[in-house]
Amino acid sequence: MDETLIATINKLQDALAPLGGGSQSPIDLPQITVVGSQSSGKSSVLENIVGRDFLPRGTGIVTRRPLVLQLINRRSSTAVAASASPNDLINLGDSTASKPQTEVKGQSEDNKDEWGEFLHLPNKKFYNFNEIRQEIVEETNRTTGKNAGISPIPINLRIYSPHVLTLTLVDLPGLTKVPVGDQPPDIERQIKDMLFTYISKPNAIILSVNPANADLANSDGLKLAKEVDPEGTRTIGVLTKVDLMDAGTDVIDILAGRVIPLRYGYIPVINRGQKDIESHKTIREALKDEKTFFESHASYGSKSMYCGTPYLAKKLNSILLHHIRQTLPEIKSKIETTLKKFRDELIALGPEGMDSPNSIILNMITDFTKEYTGILDGEYKELSSQEL
Ligand code: GDP
Ligand code: NA
Ligand code: MG
Repeated sequence: MDETLIATINKLQDALAPLGGGSQSPIDLPQITVVGSQSSGKSSVLENIVGRDFLPRGTGIVTRRPLVLQLINRRSSTAVAASASPNDLINLGDSTASKPQTEVKGQSEDNKDEWGEFLHLPNKKFYNFNEIRQEIVEETNRTTGKNAGISPIPINLRIYSPHVLTLTLVDLPGLTKVPVGDQPPDIERQIKDMLFTYISKPNAIILSVNPANADLANSDGLKLAKEVDPEGTRTIGVLTKVDLMDAGTDVIDILAGRVIPLRYGYIPVINRGQKDIESHKTIREALKDEKTFFESHASYGSKSMYCGTPYLAKKLNSILLHHIRQTLPEIKSKIETTLKKFRDELIALGPEGMDSPNSIILNMITDFTKEYTGILDGEYKELSSQEL
């Protein structure tokens, strides 16, 4: 059932996209945003969630402009199971399981199923994800210079793929206190303001990323998340670098909510370290090692199903579905308003309006919504009679 719901949402977004005005989607799906200190692992976490190697990562201030990453579900011409299911809307790098010819050997150029497009480079399709990373680095430098400068002007990137849910993720610079290089004296304030713009949106799901080898009580990211989401209804704690903790220490107290409790709790993960980045370790290998680490660890072994990137993805999925369920009535009324607006415009145009492009779109949408509001209604009744 959830699968139908997500497929429906994707189709609705496709059908309504021409009406949304530019890149703005008429269906307000959540944006997943990251917040945390510099080098806490934010870009690494996002990359693992998408399951593709394409974000600049590393020590120091690497992410220096917001990256607004729109994943766009695009049904493939060849694949059978083309639309995203709840298990692969967040990819976990294992799309290679169903498409053996792709990615593992460095994103084979043969794969024309998935590509990226930048807003600042219209009409250029990037099939090679390493080139996407290179372009992010270069476009960052174009605005900010090379010497650690920052800018609030976002880079907009769209990834088209049959394996994602139409959804937006935002990678952000990390919180930092002391200016370096070309950074302004009030760098701390400027980055906080930048993060605020994104995480204060009511549809933002906040991934509060904290390195497990630092004291949680000092987490500025967690503080900022609490400011905009005091009830914790849209914040998920992520603990990175669990592999780098001192021997004999663990995050069990944090997971048990005995340190700084969060409503949705914390999920410990292990991303690729600097050495892994340099040796081009794949996401697939990293996920395998992460699994082994948690399963064989004395502290986490018995709870390993609640640890790691796949569990984080699951949790994100369930929050997404919850959000979609809550917004179904709103989606319905948006469709109705849009239809009415189009009809009124056509009536105002008079008889010649009947041959206009608007008229064709109206017919398409009318047919479409007849079919899908039915599904949405059905889903909604079914869902509202259930405990969430
Ligand atoms: P960001 O600045 O918060 O976006 O952090 P990055 O994702 O760029 O990562 C910063 C550095 O920390 C990189 O060198 C990563 O390889 C490393 N790193 C991130 N997460 C982990 C982790 O879980 N374990 C280890 N060992 N290194 C990590
Ligand atoms: Na970094
Ligand atoms: Mg980063």
